[in-house]
Amino acid sequence: MEIQIRAGKLETEKCPAVALFLPQETPSLTNKGIYTALISRVQRQKDFAGKLEETLWLYPPEGGAERLLLAGIGEWSGKGPNENVARQNFQYAISHAVQAARKLPIEHLSLSLEGPVVEKFGYRLAAQWAAEALWLANYRFLQYKSSVPEKEKPLARVTLLGPDGRHSAEIKEGARLGEIIGKWTCLARDLQNTPANDLTPGKLAAIAAEKAAELKMACHVYDEKALHDLGMGALLGVGQGSAHPPRFVALEYQPPNQAKSVNGPIVLVGKGITFDTGGISIKSSDDLDLMKFDMSGAAVVLAAICALAELQSPLPLVALMPMAENMPSGTAQRPGDIVRTCNGKTIEVADTDAEGRLILADALAYAHRYQPQAVIDLATLTGAIYTVLSDTAAGLFGNDANLIARLKKSAERTGERVWELPLFPEFFEYMKSDIADIRNIASKPSGGGSSKGAAFLATFAEGYKWAHLDIAAVAHPREDKPLVPKGGSGYGVRLLVQFCRDWTE
Ligand code: BES
Ligand code: MN
Ligand code: ZN
Repeated sequence: MEIQIRAGKLETEKCPAVALFLPQETPSLTNKGIYTALISRVQRQKDFAGKLEETLWLYPPEGGAERLLLAGIGEWSGKGPNENVARQNFQYAISHAVQAARKLPIEHLSLSLEGPVVEKFGYRLAAQWAAEALWLANYRFLQYKSSVPEKEKPLARVTLLGPDGRHSAEIKEGARLGEIIGKWTCLARDLQNTPANDLTPGKLAAIAAEKAAELKMACHVYDEKALHDLGMGALLGVGQGSAHPPRFVALEYQPPNQAKSVNGPIVLVGKGITFDTGGISIKSSDDLDLMKFDMSGAAVVLAAICALAELQSPLPLVALMPMAENMPSGTAQRPGDIVRTCNGKTIEVADTDAEGRLILADALAYAHRYQPQAVIDLATLTGAIYTVLSDTAAGLFGNDANLIARLKKSAERTGERVWELPLFPEFFEYMKSDIADIRNIASKPSGGGSSKGAAFLATFAEGYKWAHLDIAAVAHPREDKPLVPKGGSGYGVRLLVQFCRDWTE
């Protein structure tokens, strides 16, 4: 999708369709030129109340746009909602406008930014929210479709209409930020949605290396032989049953024109299981196809570091992505095997299906070498997180109150929700092994699976500030949501980009 920016009078904009965003309370409609009388009439008839999710097509008098689309942005009494609510409502409204335009279909939609959002939050933020929402709402995964019906095609072109030249710079800057975040979120979605036969660890590593080169980031790809040299026995163990060998990828971003490392980097770690059968502790076949999404963490941290590199973030960053396919075979690891991670710790692999924490153990141990300011991992780690939160939020765990508080704050600003869950001392107790340093599943009592998994990770994240996001339930919604169509969600890209931008504030 191409987003253009234009300044000029709304009523002289000749285009197939223009969308206007209206709140529920419109005591006196601000001047909408040739459209004013038409809109007032519709409102008098109460055919359009401005509620969220409401859209209405109108056919205005000749001279301007061929069609007018009214989209409701919900309640806006008094001073209007706070920034987080306003952003969400505006973005939902944009999503509904996009779906309405796609359905007709129209290949080119113009959006008027004028309205209460701009009045309260300015052109820069409004344009950022709009551009981001356009990318998120317009996304479809069509690479494997031989033909696509017109009505299912994404919009080809959108124009953001500003009032006059005075605000062009703000609109441009805002739209650029929103576009970069939206575009990279869609890359994460593409990677998530790609089936595992086409996205092996080797392929995912090659894509990461390609993106790193485009953005001039340093990239290290460790193949099997290099993994042996590094001593990443846990990652090798998970990958040893597959015909597609494991990889470990480290991307490093250094801000331009900055003396090297005054501060250590923020390190992002993403679970990259390209397919999770469970291994010898094999899963049941129900919904097994969804296990192609088990590399969502890696896809998201890759997209986030790329977005931040394109934005020339002032923060040094690293993305670590352990990648493997968890398969049962004659060469697969067995339940009961003991593996050694690259920091020398031994793990009793009591269940080969608890493989995410194994590959993350090696990655978290590797992270120490950067002396990081903070480490954040994202992983589709436990099915248990569905029981706690359903698909409403990612589970948040960590060893540093300030880091957790910052993640919560940034999450609120993006709408990618997080919810903190406990790491009580008992959870560490439950992971003790009789014969190795730690077990990968608890031996006693049942329940609390997400906290147990997080406690396991925490023992490899000692010595730096660390947070873990269990994204198993938010990585791919089962049905369409306003800004997230069914399939890979790209959950975490917006949050990580916001978090890194807020960190240096
Ligand atoms: N990738 C799964 C977690 C998962 C399950 C994600 C369902 C999305 C939907 C992970 O590797 C896994 O298998 N976890 C086990 C852990 C258990 C063996 C301790 C689980 O959740 O059952
Ligand atoms: Mn598993
Ligand atoms: Zn898994």
